Amino acid sequence: MIRTLLSNAYQCLGWRMILLFLLLLLSGVFEGLGLTMLFPLLAKFGMGDSTGAGGPLAAIQSILNFFHVPDQFGVLLVITIGLMYLQVMFTFAKGWMETECQTRYTNYWQRNLFDHFIDAGWAFFTGERAANRVNAIMVDSGRISAAFYVVVQIATCTVFILVYALISLFSSWKMVLFLSGFGAAIYASVRPLSRKTRRIGEEVTTVSEDLQHRTTEFMHNAKLIKATATEPMAVRLFAQAAERFRRIYLAAGIMPKLIVAIYMLCGYTILGVGLWLAVVHFKVNPAAVVVAIYIFLRLYMQLTNLQQFRQGFLLSAPALPAAMRQLDHARSLRETMNNGKALPEGPAGIVLDRVSVNYGPTQALDEVSLEVAAGEMAGITGPSGAGKSTLVDVMVGLVKKEKGSIEIDGTPIEEISLRDWRRSIGYVGQETLLLNGTVAENLTWGNDVARSIVEEAAKTANAHDFIMDLPNGYDTEIGDRGARLSGGQRQRLGLARALVGGKRLLILDEATSALDAESEHQILKALERLRGKVTILMVAHRLATLSLADTILLFDKGRIVESGSWAELTEQKGLFDRLRQLQSTSL
Ligand SMILES: Nc1ncnc2c1ncn2[C@@H]1O[C@H](COP(=O)(O)OP(=O)(O)OP(=O)(O)O)[C@@H](O)[C@H]1O
Ligand SMILES: [Mg+2]
Repeated sequence: MIRTLLSNAYQCLGWRMILLFLLLLLSGVFEGLGLTMLFPLLAKFGMGDSTGAGGPLAAIQSILNFFHVPDQFGVLLVITIGLMYLQVMFTFAKGWMETECQTRYTNYWQRNLFDHFIDAGWAFFTGERAANRVNAIMVDSGRISAAFYVVVQIATCTVFILVYALISLFSSWKMVLFLSGFGAAIYASVRPLSRKTRRIGEEVTTVSEDLQHRTTEFMHNAKLIKATATEPMAVRLFAQAAERFRRIYLAAGIMPKLIVAIYMLCGYTILGVGLWLAVVHFKVNPAAVVVAIYIFLRLYMQLTNLQQFRQGFLLSAPALPAAMRQLDHARSLRETMNNGKALPEGPAGIVLDRVSVNYGPTQALDEVSLEVAAGEMAGITGPSGAGKSTLVDVMVGLVKKEKGSIEIDGTPIEEISLRDWRRSIGYVGQETLLLNGTVAENLTWGNDVARSIVEEAAKTANAHDFIMDLPNGYDTEIGDRGARLSGGQRQRLGLARALVGGKRLLILDEATSALDAESEHQILKALERLRGKVTILMVAHRLATLSLADTILLFDKGRIVESGSWAELTEQKGLFDRLRQLQSTSL
């Protein structure tokens, strides 16, 4: 796992990661040098031989002689402190680089995930809970870089441990051996706990996804919950998810502390036994014991840290495979947008030949053939679940067909540039999607469009007047998902947005269903003005909405059951006529 993480981090960080490890090594080396200088310093007080450091002392002194360093206490002290200053500097530089790398790595994963998600096909979005994707970006990206941070800390500890081990090897190899034996024993004894920590780490992802899911679900449905006084249900379900979240973080928080406690208990035991052996059995000089304890404590602190960081790694590292799975899933459903042929200008012509679409076992379209000529206004109607929206989705290229062929302006849909095609479509769906922002921002969606064009579109969509009545006109904030507007106003904004820019195909999927008769009439008049300039596909349950259509297609159970002009269909005296009569009497 560490290797995957490091190679992944290297892809993002490059030379920064190398610099970081270099600084880490340097801070370790200078820690060692500073400590080593303690030997000649102590020797000034006659402790040199008593520490058992005769060998290294001689070596250090010959190095100091080589550089003509006077063997005076003051000079040695200045050198020692200087080395320690350098160690602090390198540690600071390392800390800086660490933060730089960590923030960069989080940002890399956030963007990497978002970019892949947004490039995936529609099936990716209908497949999995949105909360899992939000969680991957908001939580797991941070956990991945936390895992990287922890790996750097582990490397730091390892370097320091090696440095201390090296120094204590100089003073007493017996002590090193003794410590290593104990270290190995403790390591083995906490292994089962490590396995548990890893499991907790894996669970953190699911639990946090659940909480994310509950939160967004209830916030999105706040109106329904308030209106039906179902707050207790929401509170109960949310409390359950929050409780699971608390428990898992409780376990995750306790594990490293438990490990530290075990380590400290063992450490004091070693210290006690070691002191007793040294003083009573081996009759070691007390001064040597003081140095040994000093090194031992520093070494042991690093060992404890190492274990704690290892636990931290086990807790956060499972975020990496989880995020990678999401990334691969998004990649496997990726759409190729740009490769195809560019399309001509002017209204689009569409031909479907025996097109079938399945959603798992559900057959949504069953060998549908139809032709919508360039500039035609086609109406589509039929009962709920008949496949009307699916027909629209398959034309836009959102849903993949199982069988048959779709041609746009005579070119198979597989061969055209999907990006060009979709950009040329004005789409107003069953639910109008608005962003938190101003009216104007919602009409242009970040594109640089002249205000006059925006107003023209709003006028056509019969939205200009109500927009001008808003407190700040086109610059009025419309609230979260347009919450400060009425349903009909939202739909008219959606329509206005669909009309901004030169469109070749206008799709209205129940776009006028939330409008009163007068507003709908205004929009139909607007569509009448667009007739011939753009191909129009209008899905509606209310048959009167389709009275202007050149052709009407009646869908049922994924098939076209009747088609023709209003007059032709009425004459056929079939299902269409029955529905028409039913609707006119019920009005
Ligand atoms: N993403 C999906 N996954 C699985 N099944 C789906 C999906 N979308 C639609 N369906 C199913 O496909 C069938 C056709 O759905 P579609 O949305 O095309 O109907 P519709 O005619 O637009 O209905 P309505 O008038 O209610 O909007 C329905 O049985 C529906 O349950
Ligand atoms: Mg529909």
